[in-house]
Amino acid sequence: MNEIPAGPRPLAIPSTSEEALRRSEKLGDALSSLLRSSYKPHERKTLRLFSAAEAASFLRTTPTNLRQAHNQEKIIEVSTKVSGRRMYSSSEIQTIRGQLEKTAKSKGAYLKKRGNSPMAVVAVSNFKGGSAKTTTAAHMAHKMALDGYRVLACDLDPQGSLSALMGFNVEIDFEGTPTLYDALRYGDPIPFDDCIYETHIANLHCVPASLELQTFEHETARVLANQNTWGGKAVVPFYDRLKQALASVEDSYDVVIIDCPPQLGFLTMSAITAANGILVTCVPGMMDVHSMNSFLRMAGDLMEVVEDNGGKDGVDFFRFLITRHEPTDGPQIEIVTLLRHLFGSDVLTNTLLKSTAISDAALTEETIYEVDRSNMTKSTYDRARQSVDACVEEVEQLILQMWGRNG
Ligand SMILES: Nc1ncnc2c1ncn2[C@@H]1O[C@H](COP(=O)(O)OP(=O)(O)OP(=O)(O)O)[C@@H](O)[C@H]1O
Ligand SMILES: [Mg+2]
Repeated sequence: MNEIPAGPRPLAIPSTSEEALRRSEKLGDALSSLLRSSYKPHERKTLRLFSAAEAASFLRTTPTNLRQAHNQEKIIEVSTKVSGRRMYSSSEIQTIRGQLEKTAKSKGAYLKKRGNSPMAVVAVSNFKGGSAKTTTAAHMAHKMALDGYRVLACDLDPQGSLSALMGFNVEIDFEGTPTLYDALRYGDPIPFDDCIYETHIANLHCVPASLELQTFEHETARVLANQNTWGGKAVVPFYDRLKQALASVEDSYDVVIIDCPPQLGFLTMSAITAANGILVTCVPGMMDVHSMNSFLRMAGDLMEVVEDNGGKDGVDFFRFLITRHEPTDGPQIEIVTLLRHLFGSDVLTNTLLKSTAISDAALTEETIYEVDRSNMTKSTYDRARQSVDACVEEVEQLILQMWGRNG
């Protein structure tokens, strides 16, 4: 075998890490200037107004009942009318909900309260990228808030996609302001409450994430290597940190929705520990189901360790949600049939249909509740809206069961 000749090695080849960092810096700078040129800092999202039919559906009533309530002056008058028709803001819908509930014959007709039951914490999870975790989490958060629940959208993904859908452009809005990482970090964590922000939707608050959250993964590895200490001091174990943070705001919210990152790291495990409901999103494709199988096996193994350390009891519900569903696609039909056969009622009856209405809304970082039906093909919008509404309502029923309510 020939020996490598002695002498200086060529210097021109940069290491992989140098290459990656150099490219990331270049891309980061370009993206940042692109973002800044199209985005005005502190320009907050606003929510469109809703028609009487939409407001009535959020209020669990009919447009006729709503009109009568206005005529009888049981509820406030709206501030905007378009061509004589009432248009409702999310905060007006909320005020009206309170007024209707006060005079309702049966309690909870317009607002289902959780009473003394625990806050619902739903983790949307799967390590397969692009399985519609964020889309599902955002639509659940928006609809449940419009339906009158006090909702906290918790972004556990350093990519910050859920934060963007909640109106926070993290890398611009949050330079120097607290995000979830600041409440979870091991060194001098701040109160969780200080990382929560109001959104453009009444009743909906958000804990945004930034890239810094990724640090939690490395820091946790260090803490574990040092017998659960940081800087020489014992710390709350990684799996309990989010759970404890959420417990501190238990009185302020009915539902917490956690968007997990596409990996089974410490962040996802914290979400699973904190959750009393788990939703695994699944695109019905062969590769996706294969990957989901690995996710379930690994999650099971890892959670066993957490359970053995007393970190977790059972969950109230664990369900699969079929996403980006194309009901007429042959291969998808086979996989959906297989999943339903294997998991029965653990697969939600409703599915999140693949729709250009949803992907088009996502282009402007919006959900289907934010975009205006009049700007889309009506039948496309209605089909997508019905599908999303039905999925979220099915999860809502599980939450109501958890609270001992019959729906
Ligand atoms: N029902 C749907 N119809 C059409 N497009 C969809 C639908 N659901 C999600 N998408 C699109 O699929 C892409 C991936 O969705 P999303 O970001 O929600 O997945 P994710 O699981 O959160 O991804 P990641 O693993 O990167 O966090 C997005 O572009 C989204 O707009
Ligand atoms: Mg996501």
